[in-house]
Amino acid sequence: MNDAKPRVVLGVGGGIAAYKACEVLRGLTESGHDVRVVPTEAALNFVGAATFEALSGNPVHTGVFTEVPEVQHVRAGKEADLVLVVPATANLLAKAAHGLADDLLTNTLLTARCPVAFFPAMHTEMWEHPATRDNVALLRSRGLVVTEPAAGRLTGVDTGKGRLADPAEIVDLARLLLAEPGALPRDLEGLRVVISAGGTREPLDPVRFLGNRSSGKQGFALARVAAQRGAEVTLVAGHTDELPSPAGATLQRVSTAEEMRKAVHAAAADADVVVMAAAVADFRPATLADHKIKKSEDSPDPVLTLDRNADILAELVRERRSGQIVVGFAAETGDENGSVLDHARAKLRRKGADLLVVNAVGDGKAFGTEDNAGWLLASDGTEQVISQGAKARLAATLWDAVTALIERRL
Ligand code: CTP
Repeated sequence: MNDAKPRVVLGVGGGIAAYKACEVLRGLTESGHDVRVVPTEAALNFVGAATFEALSGNPVHTGVFTEVPEVQHVRAGKEADLVLVVPATANLLAKAAHGLADDLLTNTLLTARCPVAFFPAMHTEMWEHPATRDNVALLRSRGLVVTEPAAGRLTGVDTGKGRLADPAEIVDLARLLLAEPGALPRDLEGLRVVISAGGTREPLDPVRFLGNRSSGKQGFALARVAAQRGAEVTLVAGHTDELPSPAGATLQRVSTAEEMRKAVHAAAADADVVVMAAAVADFRPATLADHKIKKSEDSPDPVLTLDRNADILAELVRERRSGQIVVGFAAETGDENGSVLDHARAKLRRKGADLLVVNAVGDGKAFGTEDNAGWLLASDGTEQVISQGAKARLAATLWDAVTALIERRL
């Protein structure tokens, strides 16, 4: 019955973040995945098997001595399209790195031939311990995905690196790995990357602003994928939908185009790659009223005068340091003067960026949607079609193009 659905094994480690695995499970089943939950014994101290069974619709076991005729410890791993471990404790990472197999989950990890991704959650001291560092490096060297944890509130009052990535982010990355198993290599290690995202707001008076419909989803997906590919990421975000902060990235919030300009330039000063995915307002009200603008029967309705904002992308291109790669985005519609691609090619020439991601907009396309499609144009004239897919997939395609460009320049 579930045959056409991608099969995901969701391993759950024994940490307090195990309760968030329920949200990951929900996100996966609701987006059409057949999920089999394999917790460790310790995980069941935090979440009961009945919860996982009810949410997944599948039986839940921790050991290899149940359903013996089914040879579960071999089948679950072999038949899966993806194995996720949420949360991956220091203990589980150690066991996986050294091939220990003393329960159903660790057996499954040894028999899996599909992509395997660990989502760590532990105290900062444990994440930074040389034993864990070595285990993570060993697992990554074998091509397994060990994601960067988020920084923030841990169990109790302590904060630091080691917080489980947001469940929505885990689901997003899981879907990326199902669509493209090789999408998260550690090929951006040592690279400093700045990404702008979301829309800017230009205030008119204390309560009103000129804004736009950018959701920020594409910029956040770019940051998420770059951080998990090993880059040091600064995400400069204007106004966005409510989105999970990408684990492993540094998030800076700004509001106006001018604030974005300052933040992006400051971060770009020592960056290797700058991606302008933000929808920056081209104009701002020429005057900012210090009180709410009132309608009145006695005076004429106000007329809005606009001043032009700086073009951040053009400035970045002009001021770029040697070897720095600058990437622009173009949201285009075709008109009587040319097609979407005609306008995009002209914009790439005009702006002088190294790469331009082109989206066709209008009719509900691109803004706020989960999917994106378009073209990737390079300043050397190469053009690549980006087929319809999740924003994380477009992100992976862009980072592939960036690494190819860096290699060509070496
Ligand atoms: N951009 C920018 N600063 C601005 C406006 C846009 O850095 N003040 C960047 C966007 O982040 C995007 C690219 O420029 O990467 C293209 O933006 P777009 O608004 O589509 O292009 P414009 O140059 O404004 O051209 P037009 O609106 O005339 O199509």
